[in-house]
Amino acid sequence: MSRLELLFLLSCFPYLFHISDGGSMAVQNENMPPSSPIRAVNLGGWLVTEGWFMPSLFYDIINNETLDGTKLQFKSVTQNMYLSAEHGGGSNIVANRTNASTWETFKLWRINEDTFNLKVDNNQFVTLAGDGVTVVASVPSPGSGEKFQFQMLRNSIKQLIRVRIKALNNGMFLQASTDLVTADYDVQSTNWGDDDPSVFEVKIKDQLQGEYQLCNGYVRIPVGWWIASDPNPPAPFVGGSLEALDNAFIWAEKYNVGVIVDLHAAPGSQNQFEHSGTRDGSYKWATATNIAQTVHVIGFLASRYANSSSLLAIELLNEPQKSNLSDLSALKGYYQDGYYAVRNHTEKAYVIMSTQVYGANTDTTELLDFASNLPNTVIDVHYYNLYADNFKTLTAEQHIEYVNTTRSAELRTVTRQNGPLSFVGEWVAEWDVQTASKEDYQKFAQVQLDVYGRATFGWAYWTYKHVNEHWSMEWNINNKIISLKT
Ligand SMILES: *[C@@H]1O[C@H](CO)[C@@H](O)[C@H](O)[C@H]1NC(C)=O
Ligand SMILES: *[C@@H]1O[C@H](CO)[C@@H](O)[C@H](O)[C@H]1NC(C)=O
Ligand SMILES: *[C@@H]1O[C@H](CO)[C@@H](O)[C@H](O)[C@H]1NC(C)=O
Ligand SMILES: *[C@@H]1O[C@H](CO)[C@@H](O)[C@H](O)[C@H]1NC(C)=O
Ligand SMILES: *[C@@H]1O[C@H](CO)[C@@H](O)[C@H](O)[C@H]1NC(C)=O
Ligand SMILES: *[C@@H]1O[C@H](CO)[C@@H](O)[C@H](O)[C@H]1NC(C)=O
Ligand SMILES: *[C@@H]1O[C@H](CO)[C@@H](O)[C@H](O)[C@H]1NC(C)=O
Repeated sequence: MSRLELLFLLSCFPYLFHISDGGSMAVQNENMPPSSPIRAVNLGGWLVTEGWFMPSLFYDIINNETLDGTKLQFKSVTQNMYLSAEHGGGSNIVANRTNASTWETFKLWRINEDTFNLKVDNNQFVTLAGDGVTVVASVPSPGSGEKFQFQMLRNSIKQLIRVRIKALNNGMFLQASTDLVTADYDVQSTNWGDDDPSVFEVKIKDQLQGEYQLCNGYVRIPVGWWIASDPNPPAPFVGGSLEALDNAFIWAEKYNVGVIVDLHAAPGSQNQFEHSGTRDGSYKWATATNIAQTVHVIGFLASRYANSSSLLAIELLNEPQKSNLSDLSALKGYYQDGYYAVRNHTEKAYVIMSTQVYGANTDTTELLDFASNLPNTVIDVHYYNLYADNFKTLTAEQHIEYVNTTRSAELRTVTRQNGPLSFVGEWVAEWDVQTASKEDYQKFAQVQLDVYGRATFGWAYWTYKHVNEHWSMEWNINNKIISLKT
């Protein structure tokens, strides 16, 4: 059984809206919008880490370039060839590739600061074959123990440039010969020169900085406010987020602010991104076991906060990835079970469903008919003028025009009469325009406020605080880019 990547870590955000007394609200056959659309801000990066919000969180971790999920490519200095998991895995590791692509990429599972399991393209792990020396990628999971563990010794503490890799199973270094890689090099000392068959040049292809990476890097450091009042979460996650969320509700009740709780990270990871709490960027949420567990988490949250006057809504899952693993019927099945898990505890709280993202041809209308049959539901769409190629060359004026026409038409199609309410759950006043003036940013923010203000449930800015100024709503308000006059 694989470890649970994440359980109770959520992103939650209060909305800037005076909550009305819902005491008289009976069971509705149709969706009742809030008395005026909510205007909210996401507390992104708070209970589920994303490194780019505050890179300094990772500065004190020893060997912070080699956290979980880091993708490495190794080039033998004697062969001048890259290591490759032949066929992507399931057979030998070879040393005969002039170029590096997916079969030549190894993902780290971090045991400690210098010891790792190595995962190859088809998700198998590296170990030694029956002969005790041939290096193969043939096991479906690394289990525990030295048989699958490799220690990476580096020539420079400051920078990851050259390494030697020791198989802990037999204490020998890996060496590359014409084709094969074997763990039988017994010379302890090295001058890291081009003549040592156990020396490899390393290239970092990709890194992740999420909750898994942070906790597994810091797991031995006790943190003051992570008081162990919640059940012990599975390793490497640390307790305390439940208490933090409890405190958020206490605060929200005191100031009459509503809270939307949004499950950002589901067991197995519902997308490949760090905000899903993934260990290594692989995606395996949509299994019966993981889905049942996720429904359980939703029920747990609903029962804990149903009685709070500040619980406005529960969002069942953030940004599920469109893929053949989560076909729409599996997702709908989950949304239906999650919906009733909430309804078991409250009829009043809205249930929010995020449309599928990241795949080609994602269709934001795909859940409308389904959700229409479920009272007090909301469809969440995320509108960024970023990432896709078509945004890279737009001028400021073209961006503003795009929001005013294309986005506003898109929002109209997901805002159906007698359908679920519409919610722009993430947006940001940021773009790839290099020479934008303050006035350009103000206009861009304003057109988004105008257009997204037509969503029948409301909108939420991504995000409250961020080192990148324009992503921070606090900075935008203080610097008069965003004005929330009513
Ligand atoms: C690792 O920490 C150092 C500071 O100690 C920092 O400069 C560097 O950017 C960090 N690297 C990563 C990948 O977080
Ligand atoms: C390998 O990379 C080199 C240098 O980037 C390039 O010139 C060559 O075409 C590549 N070969 C293959 C087979 O992709
Ligand atoms: C690499 O070596 C393996 C094992 O000898 C061989 O099957 C494969 O064809 C070689 N690949 C290349 C690109 O030379
Ligand atoms: C919520 O309130 C109801 C009615 O007052 C009560 O029966 C129930 O135990 C409360 N639940 C929690 C979790 O406090
Ligand atoms: C998903 O698609 C990939 C590539 O086409 C295929 O190898 C894999 O078996 C598919 N998985 C499922 C669960 O259908
Ligand atoms: C709702 O509650 C009932 C009875 O307490 C329980 O049998 C059912 O499994 C719950 N449904 C969900 C979806 O949690
Ligand atoms: C958006 O379009 C409307 C007409 O549909 C127009 O009145 C308005 O000026 C436009 N706003 C911007 C910022 O272009």
